[in-house]
Amino acid sequence: MNFQPMAASDNLVSRDWTSDMIAPLSDRGQGTAASFVAKTFNCDCVETPAELFISALGLYRCFINGKRVGNDLLTPGWTSYDHRLAFQHYDVSDLVKPGQNRIEIWLADGWYRSPLMWGQKAIPNCWGDQTAAIADLVGPNGVIVSTDTTWQSGLLPIRKSGIYFGEIYDAREEKLADTHGTVRLPFDKALLVAHETAPVRELPPIAPIDSWTDAEGRTIYDFGQNIGGYVRYTVRGPAGAEIRVEHSEVLGPGRHFDNRNYRTAQAHTIYTLCGDGEQTYAPHFSFQGFRYARVTATGDARILAISSVPISSVPNLTGGFQSGNALVNRLVQNTIWSQRANFIEVPTDCPQRDERLGWTGDAQVFAATACWLTDSQAFFRKYLRDVMADQREDGAISHFSPDPTRLHPKNFPGFAGSTGWGDAIVVIPWVLYTHYDDRAVLCECLNAMVRWVDFVWSISDGPIVRPPSRWGDRGFTFGDWLQPIGDNRKPRPTVADDCAATLYHFISTDLLAKIAAILGNQALEARMKRRAAEIRQAFAHEFIAPSGRMAHNDQTSYALAFLYDLIPAAHHEAAKQHFRQVIIDADYKIGTGFIGTPALLPALTKLGMDDLAEKVFLQEEVPGWLYQVSKGATTIWERWDSMAPDGTIYEPDMNSYNHYAYGAVCQWLFESVAGISPSRSAPGFSEVIVDPAPIAALSPVTAYHDVRQGRIEAQWECRGNRVTYNVTLPEGCVGRFRPGRRHQNPLLNGEPVMGEAVLRAGTHELIFSLPHL
Ligand code: BGC
Repeated sequence: MNFQPMAASDNLVSRDWTSDMIAPLSDRGQGTAASFVAKTFNCDCVETPAELFISALGLYRCFINGKRVGNDLLTPGWTSYDHRLAFQHYDVSDLVKPGQNRIEIWLADGWYRSPLMWGQKAIPNCWGDQTAAIADLVGPNGVIVSTDTTWQSGLLPIRKSGIYFGEIYDAREEKLADTHGTVRLPFDKALLVAHETAPVRELPPIAPIDSWTDAEGRTIYDFGQNIGGYVRYTVRGPAGAEIRVEHSEVLGPGRHFDNRNYRTAQAHTIYTLCGDGEQTYAPHFSFQGFRYARVTATGDARILAISSVPISSVPNLTGGFQSGNALVNRLVQNTIWSQRANFIEVPTDCPQRDERLGWTGDAQVFAATACWLTDSQAFFRKYLRDVMADQREDGAISHFSPDPTRLHPKNFPGFAGSTGWGDAIVVIPWVLYTHYDDRAVLCECLNAMVRWVDFVWSISDGPIVRPPSRWGDRGFTFGDWLQPIGDNRKPRPTVADDCAATLYHFISTDLLAKIAAILGNQALEARMKRRAAEIRQAFAHEFIAPSGRMAHNDQTSYALAFLYDLIPAAHHEAAKQHFRQVIIDADYKIGTGFIGTPALLPALTKLGMDDLAEKVFLQEEVPGWLYQVSKGATTIWERWDSMAPDGTIYEPDMNSYNHYAYGAVCQWLFESVAGISPSRSAPGFSEVIVDPAPIAALSPVTAYHDVRQGRIEAQWECRGNRVTYNVTLPEGCVGRFRPGRRHQNPLLNGEPVMGEAVLRAGTHELIFSLPHL
């Protein structure tokens, strides 16, 4: 059977629809039983290919003669629906038969109308209050059937579903009855675009590694891996018996099932058996973030088989990193799992609680790592269109996209305009350009970038951004969100909002000047260069003392300022020593939050402080990357201290165990430790900068990255201070190696290296000694 979605391969962007968007008259609104729309039709003879073009308001699954069309999940996907609605395109030649046929489209609330946003203020019906479907089934001779008001509707066995809610399914109601008609909805078909990214798909299921019964007789399953997905099980039992599945990411002390951190997300499924032999169930229109499942069975229902099923828009890896340190290897795996779980249609913060939103800050700090680990080009391009759709009139970029608050600001006013978050509109296109040579994305986003940096300038009307401290006020910033402050009796210095905001103001302005140059827009380039110079000067004046010590003597300030060349040459040495001291004073523990963390190790590497990079990266206490791994984490935590050393769960009000942001350190593993980076002058890896900064304690290291040209591999081993480094480049990639201070007496393929060496396709051996620091 051929169920391949065709949109991605046939470059279809839009089409002329003959059909109407039709809503089921059986529908009673958000949070009630789900409906289907259906039509019985005749086909004299089936001429192939028979193709189905389909979309929906809400989520849909389509069946032709009882067989499911395709295996994509959560279709049509999630976009800022009032701007774009995705459609899918399937070859259904094998499903349509001569004679009588029936097509059924199951509908559910999905992101379109199930409540989104947190707590009691959650917003239902964000983009509309009616579920509906549009479909054209066409053969070579034209339309076979398409949605119109001759279609019927009725209720599904899905009695309730929602993104945070989960799903209630009554198998006794599986015989569908066409009880109602349908109504045509006013709908602008110009909104329909072919699905812009790969469909969400299942990954191989995961069997439990342990299970036990709690005091109330419920079975708890441990699947060993935190995921975004669902539980699938096979059950036998009498009609009316019930299986309830609840989810959790962690166990509290005493292996206590604890999902308080899901906040108001019910995140459960309830399945009522029809008594008809063995039945297999997994939710249709929801997913959860979990490692553990607590199963309550009533009325003699017996689970015969159970697994957890991860789902993702990016199931395939394009990068891997292995070292001699098992905790580091697990950290990389945890990042991969957090990316999978949070790359479900939209790059989200977390997959479990009443949030699961496309936070722009999280996405921008993680974007480069995402591109190392999976092919994220189409995924981010789609996301950027949502970010642009949600951009406010004054240029503010929303805190998350698709933004459920834009059309309903009442409960959540002013959810736009934070530096570090809104900068996603500049940073992500730049990452796509460097990784995929995607110039088109720069063109597409240019105007939105300009509007964003002008917005930030306008907050304080000048180079130093002075954001208001009140959440919701114009220009509010999250600063260096979740920066750890150490012992709260004597907290460590943290970066202040004005410094954090000004740093990012500079980063985006400077990047925009580069982007303008690439696009040949000289006027913009000159304007942004002038502005960047003004910010740089004002920054030094405002935030660096004449001694070279930064006003906010903290890791984030130094890391970002050094990484983006904001420390004047005169202060360089002194500031470097202050940076070193700040890290020593913190006992080599991390002192950075969301925006400082990705910059910390790259800044240390850039400054040649490899000894500090090694100590900070490899220390296992909190706060530190390996602390969570040593606590058994299987995904990246939202907070450095999400769990206390004794296993106590940090306050559950804002504590996710699956937040990819701090996994952004993987970019440094590829670019510094493995020493391969995309070059800005010849992006898309046609040129690869080879510049290894080995951390001896990680030896041996192997890394790979699949690019359009083929596979890039890097591998090194360290004996004493002697490093043997091998890099393999595919045809179409040229490497450039310029020995630095850490590459003493370098030999390339047996020959001493003088100046920059150009590496052609093939494997090259580089031998050098590490300096004694
Ligand atoms: C989210 C984030 C986000 C942050 C910004 C949190 O609730 O989970 O990851 O970036 O809010 O404030």
